[in-house]
Amino acid sequence: MIAPTADPAVSHPSQPAANRLIPAHLRRIVLTGFMGAGKTTVGRLLAGRLGWEFLDLDACIESRAGLTVPSIFAAHGEAHFRQLESQALAASLGRSNVVLALGGGAPESLTNRLLIEQTPATATVFLDAPFATLIDRCVTQSVDAKSIAPPAQARPVLADPASAEARFLARQPIYRRLAHYTISTASLTTGETVAALLTRLQTTPPVRSNSRL
Ligand code: S3P
Repeated sequence: MIAPTADPAVSHPSQPAANRLIPAHLRRIVLTGFMGAGKTTVGRLLAGRLGWEFLDLDACIESRAGLTVPSIFAAHGEAHFRQLESQALAASLGRSNVVLALGGGAPESLTNRLLIEQTPATATVFLDAPFATLIDRCVTQSVDAKSIAPPAQARPVLADPASAEARFLARQPIYRRLAHYTISTASLTTGETVAALLTRLQTTPPVRSNSRL
């Protein structure tokens, strides 16, 4: 088990409330989905409701590497980023009472999927939305962040729209099969997404459609 640190990627809990909101055996909730799915916003809100820690995998990678995600892509390439991502994932899954927001590409790696599947007491949730909605959200996020840079500057994988859509299509079945729960978020606010997820966790046993891809 990894000891808690003063890592900026980690939000620390204030009030433990998980016991009355989700099944008692759960120790981790992993959020997956494409860029713009709302993994970080929903994850932070959910962790707050549960009184759990929130971990954002990209922020963990950045804090471990001392570089931003776009800088890692630019200086070392995507393959190196994916290695750092797997290492950060393994470390993050060692924590308990944690909501973990993955980067959109993390489930593409079989190693990462096995790590997630084999970590006990872990519910995996796919936040689903159509490609156009996700891209709109990424654009809105960069406007909200008052960034004069285009969304692809923060998310290098968006640089080429055609290849971003190809990645989206290729990843959809991977997200679906890895997840115990899929929430369609297109018409939901982040608060409604958290409420829908808490209801599903309380009422539906965790089931994977097919754990091997
Ligand atoms: C990526 C998604 C990003 C980040 C990196 C690569 C991807 O995370 O990990 O830019 O391949 O989809 P978010 O999904 O949090 O934007």
